[in-house]
Amino acid sequence: MKNELILILDFGGQYNQLIARRVRECNVYSEVVPYNISIEEIKEKNPKGIIFTGGPASVYGEDSPRCAEGIFELGIPILGICYGMQLMTYTLGGKVARANKREYGTTEVSINNSSLLLQGFKNTNGFLMSHTDYVETVPEGFKNIGTTASCPNAAMENVEKKLYGIQFHPEVNHSINGIQVIKNFLFHVCNCTGDWIISSFTQESIQKLKEKIGDKKALCALSGGVDSSVAAVLLSKAIGKNLTCIFVDHGLLRKNEGDEVEEIFRNQFDMHLIRVNAKDRFLEKLAGISDPETKRKIIGEEFIRVFEEEAKKIGTVDFLVQGTIYPDVIESGLGKSSVIKSHHNVGGLPDYVDFKEIVEPLKDLFKDEVRKTGLELGIPENLVYRQPFPGPGLAIRIIGDITDDKLTILKDADSIFREEIAKADLHKSINQYFAVLTNLKSVGVMGDERTYDYTIALRAVETTDFMTGVWSRIPYEILEKVSSRIVNEVNHVNRVVYDITSKPPATIEWE
Ligand code: XMP
Repeated sequence: MKNELILILDFGGQYNQLIARRVRECNVYSEVVPYNISIEEIKEKNPKGIIFTGGPASVYGEDSPRCAEGIFELGIPILGICYGMQLMTYTLGGKVARANKREYGTTEVSINNSSLLLQGFKNTNGFLMSHTDYVETVPEGFKNIGTTASCPNAAMENVEKKLYGIQFHPEVNHSINGIQVIKNFLFHVCNCTGDWIISSFTQESIQKLKEKIGDKKALCALSGGVDSSVAAVLLSKAIGKNLTCIFVDHGLLRKNEGDEVEEIFRNQFDMHLIRVNAKDRFLEKLAGISDPETKRKIIGEEFIRVFEEEAKKIGTVDFLVQGTIYPDVIESGLGKSSVIKSHHNVGGLPDYVDFKEIVEPLKDLFKDEVRKTGLELGIPENLVYRQPFPGPGLAIRIIGDITDDKLTILKDADSIFREEIAKADLHKSINQYFAVLTNLKSVGVMGDERTYDYTIALRAVETTDFMTGVWSRIPYEILEKVSSRIVNEVNHVNRVVYDITSKPPATIEWE
């Protein structure tokens, strides 16, 4: 059965992915596509509805993005948001004008709640407005269904043609109950049924992978991170032992993590897993290196070399599995290059692995959906909700050069910190927390003896996007417990400090 689909035409606005997520939260599958998608492609995708996103351009701009001609004649319901509404107006013969002043913020909108799109609201509702251009005259056949003090046409409709425009942003939390507008569009205008759920996705993709791969062979680099783990388990459910996972353990994982990954995938999921214990090899390459970027580069390259060597032993495979997720592949509507996952991800595509095709089973899912799929597949919760862990691992949490002894100190201190955070039930509200082994030694006293030992720094941040973040206000009693346990239980640490810098100006990691 084919999923009901809502196409989201991306005009470069900042909330595009959010719109897609909101639609999926209503159990309707959605895809973000470039604004200039052709009529043929649209027909082929056969969507139940189309949403035009907002965007920074003005419809009168020379290079402003336009949609394919004829899109309004397809008979498919369209909802234009912000720039999307203005474009609809401009294309269909209405008038868009420029205000002297930008209207910004949650604004009272007087609405006509007998409209299908705005039913369920009172006569006024607060929605987020963020625009300078506005619709001065709606196109012929349209009727006004919303106004604000400074915007004469905050919403419009052409019921017969199922075309709707709204100047506000229903997708953001600043709009009160904005999701209702999206629901109205999906269920009352487009007549979606809302039957898209993760468990059907999971079963469907296992089935599709079975058909695609058959009895051919696939190879997957497993890091223990959420995405590669879920991708590997999906594949393994589909093709069993024809999937080989290579887990390169660079020795820079957290305490016991390598064994945990092995336990889950080898024993619980009975996968064909090759664990390469390459710690010595990595430490040798890293000996004496203190520069953070050089460390990253060495680890990235060595990771690929080890993976390639192992892959060569297996010989030619048909498919290489990648844990790419949807936000990594969405192309910006304005034709910029596609977003690359992380500016510093380890384990890019290996050059010399002999495979015929790449398979990316998660490429249609957002991170929270990947997590749901993981739970659905029976992957333990602690792995599915694992905090992000950088590819270069503890190497960028040891300031200065790396030795085996320093690694042991850091692993022990970090594991105490994580244990206490979990005990205090703070692990769900703090998005990333870890210990750093600073390069600083200072004087202390233990019993009657003078010590000269390392300082451990604790880092904990709250963030949604990891681009900005604030340091977490961990209660003093918990910090005290962590500090006292670390100095008592970890040799060669006599001082613990807490990092109270937000990002920016500091980054989350210390290197
Ligand atoms: P920063 O330190 O830049 O980190 O504030 C933002 C997020 O990215 C993670 N991070 C990395 N992830 N390879 C990765 O895969 C890296 O080299 C790397 N450096 C930082 C960091 O843990 C945080 O979640």
